[in-house]
Amino acid sequence: MIWARAEGCRVTLADGRELLDLTGGFGVAALGHRNPRILEAWREQEVVHALGDLADAEVTVLLREALPRPAKLGVTGEDAVEIALRTALLATGRSGIVAFEGAYHGTGLLALAATGFERFREPFAAWLPGPVHRRPYGEDPGPLPEDAACVIVEPVQGRSGSRVPPDGFLEVLRRRCDEAGALLVVDSIYAGLGRVGEMWPGEEVADVLCVGKALGGGLPISAALFYRDGLEDVWQLGPEDVYTHTHVGNPLACAAARIVLEEVPKLLDRVRTVGERFEHAGWWGRGLLRARDGDWEDALACGVLVVPAGDGSLIQATPPLTITDAELEEAFEKLG
Ligand SMILES: Cc1ncc(COP(=O)(O)O)c(C=O)c1O
Repeated sequence: MIWARAEGCRVTLADGRELLDLTGGFGVAALGHRNPRILEAWREQEVVHALGDLADAEVTVLLREALPRPAKLGVTGEDAVEIALRTALLATGRSGIVAFEGAYHGTGLLALAATGFERFREPFAAWLPGPVHRRPYGEDPGPLPEDAACVIVEPVQGRSGSRVPPDGFLEVLRRRCDEAGALLVVDSIYAGLGRVGEMWPGEEVADVLCVGKALGGGLPISAALFYRDGLEDVWQLGPEDVYTHTHVGNPLACAAARIVLEEVPKLLDRVRTVGERFEHAGWWGRGLLRARDGDWEDALACGVLVVPAGDGSLIQATPPLTITDAELEEAFEKLG
């Protein structure tokens, strides 16, 4: 499938087919494709590339100030997870990770080790770091293993099919981490920035909270936010940053992120309302992180773009948070 144009909630393919987009580009286009404010912000930038850890553009500094907590910026979502897990290693001196069945944290080796999808892990099993202790999602993991540096958890599991844990699950994890002196890493890369109707889901319990996807309005940028006071200090490891990337803090991505942080809070009520309409139409999940049984190719044939999820028997909807009532009706009608 080749995209030729994307605007708002609609995509035109290179072969001329017009689709209603319920993917939002895997949840990235929270404010809709080609959002005019974001396009304008990109045009205005006078520095357009990053310079690793050597220099920040002014807009990168402004973004850091707009984030609710001190943060270490990354490029991809997986990168924010890597920062969070390394923070746990640095803070505790331990290397064990407690992660959950059905979790998706990205495909770099460290994030992949924590990911619960066997088909992603298996080809690289010989190289995966660990130990990783896997537990059923939504259940009390029990006392943590002695080597546990952290627990990593999605507040709602995204890729495995919008799985919402029982109430109180995150609080149980908080208690288990406190008992064991381990960090609680909340991976809100999919669920965060409005997707489930909250800006920072899990912020009440997290030591480190990861966001990505929607943050850059379409450009790659992520962040690991340090909710435990002083945690950022574990990264004072010498004169240079020993975990960095050439493109980290890219000014165009930061300019978009400032707009995302301004605009998404205005949409949270709307996300919850539209989420209820998905619920009534038989989609489970929370906010606009939704899934149901189905085949994504059947949906495509009806002119609606959705993402395959879980073991492939589910379809997932993560539309722009700006989806209109008319677009919603059209999607439900076409999908049947
Ligand atoms: C919860 C979660 N964490 C991490 C990632 C990895 O993000 P990226 O694909 O940008 O590396 C994803 C991607 O889908 C995700 O859903």
